[in-house]
Amino acid sequence: MEPGNINFHTRKWVRPEDLNANGTLFGGSLLRWIDEEATIYAILQMGNGRVVTKLMSEINFVSSAQQGDLIEMGLRATKFGTTSLTMQAEVRNMITRSSILTIERIVFVNLDEHGRPAPHGYTEVTYDRDRLPKHHLPAGPPQPWPAAAPAA
Ligand SMILES: CC(C)(COP(=O)(O)OP(=O)(O)OC[C@H]1O[C@@H](n2cnc3c(N)ncnc32)[C@H](O)[C@@H]1OP(=O)(O)O)[C@@H](O)C(=O)NCCC(=O)NCCS
Repeated sequence: MEPGNINFHTRKWVRPEDLNANGTLFGGSLLRWIDEEATIYAILQMGNGRVVTKLMSEINFVSSAQQGDLIEMGLRATKFGTTSLTMQAEVRNMITRSSILTIERIVFVNLDEHGRPAPHGYTEVTYDRDRLPKHHLPAGPPQPWPAAAPAA
């Protein structure tokens, strides 16, 4: 993976609650962070607040991090499908610049108001906020969006 091609946005400070029993960064915390970061990226690229993680390919935990380390997460769109977006991810240590984790393929799917795959209509990455969703998602399971007003 070419680090230069990836945009690093979110940074994290490794805190005691993020550690495993060996005293190093817990992989589960890392995956939760990267999944959230990828979700935000997918929403901004596909212009829809209703997206889901479909697939994560092999996850390579290259090196560890310790309490107090600063880490940064990077993503790069690699393929715009009809209803999906595929991206690559890398997490690295900000101080040493060494790679902590790489994921070759994360696939997100754009959903309609019924929770079914829906075409997103995009073929290229945006670096602006021009696809930012304009509405809140209704709470609860999928329903028409924006939510229909309850019957009087
Ligand atoms: C996402 C979901 C609606 C897709 O359903 P599906 O029946 O696979 O839908 P489709 O076959 O129409 O595929 C939808 C897209 O995903 C892609 N896809 C499906 N399976 C895939 C796989 N194993 N690997 C890569 N891409 C895949 C398809 O190629 C298609 O993309 P495209 O339209 O850009 O070509 C369904 O699998 C689901 O609800 N999964 C659970 C998601 C979830 O809860 N995630 C965790 C929490 S966010």
